[in-house]
Amino acid sequence: MEFEFLADRPDALDLVSHWYYHEWGRANPNGSPAAIARKLSHSMNRDMVPLVVLAIDRNVVVGSVELKYREMAIYPDMIHWLGGLYVTLDYRGRGIASQLVERVVDLAGDLGIGRLYLQTERLDGGIYAGLGWKPCKQVCNKGIDILVMEIDVGE
Ligand SMILES: CC(C)(COP(=O)(O)OP(=O)(O)OC[C@H]1O[C@@H](n2cnc3c(N)ncnc32)[C@H](O)[C@@H]1OP(=O)(O)O)[C@@H](O)C(=O)NCCC(=O)NCCS
Repeated sequence: MEFEFLADRPDALDLVSHWYYHEWGRANPNGSPAAIARKLSHSMNRDMVPLVVLAIDRNVVVGSVELKYREMAIYPDMIHWLGGLYVTLDYRGRGIASQLVERVVDLAGDLGIGRLYLQTERLDGGIYAGLGWKPCKQVCNKGIDILVMEIDVGE
């Protein structure tokens, strides 16, 4: 498995946008893969937030994760977030998402970020609980119960 920035694989922008649309975007009546692609086009960075990291197996893009600003508007003081963690069906259960999460935490450290947040519908913390993330808040966001988790980068 290799890991590359979306900035270095702009050909993957449409693919990742379709993943995100089908996973999270369909509930938004104004949403579309093209709208997500426009937003993600601002994440073509390597050394600043926002950025996207891709997992690549023999030149096939099989997963992605975002390092981004303020994913939840209700928490404006929580600045840096991990989001958009996605692995294609055929590649799940092989630890790829775990590696993507660890990559982003390492990158955050390189960028001098002290604390990262994420939201998950897995109220037990799912994959993140085993990777050092701690529960921070549980809230009902847009009708869905979610857990906000945090990690102190570099610990
Ligand atoms: C969640 C997801 C990225 C995991 O990818 P993966 O490469 O199979 O993950 P890994 O092999 O590294 O780890 C598997 C773990 O993920 C956990 N997991 C599955 N879905 C999860 C979710 N939605 N949130 C958190 N953890 C999840 C599994 O329980 C498993 O944990 P276990 O090893 O303790 O049983 C993948 O299932 C996916 O893309 N799902 C759709 C998008 C999504 O729900 N993203 C997470 C948003 S918070």
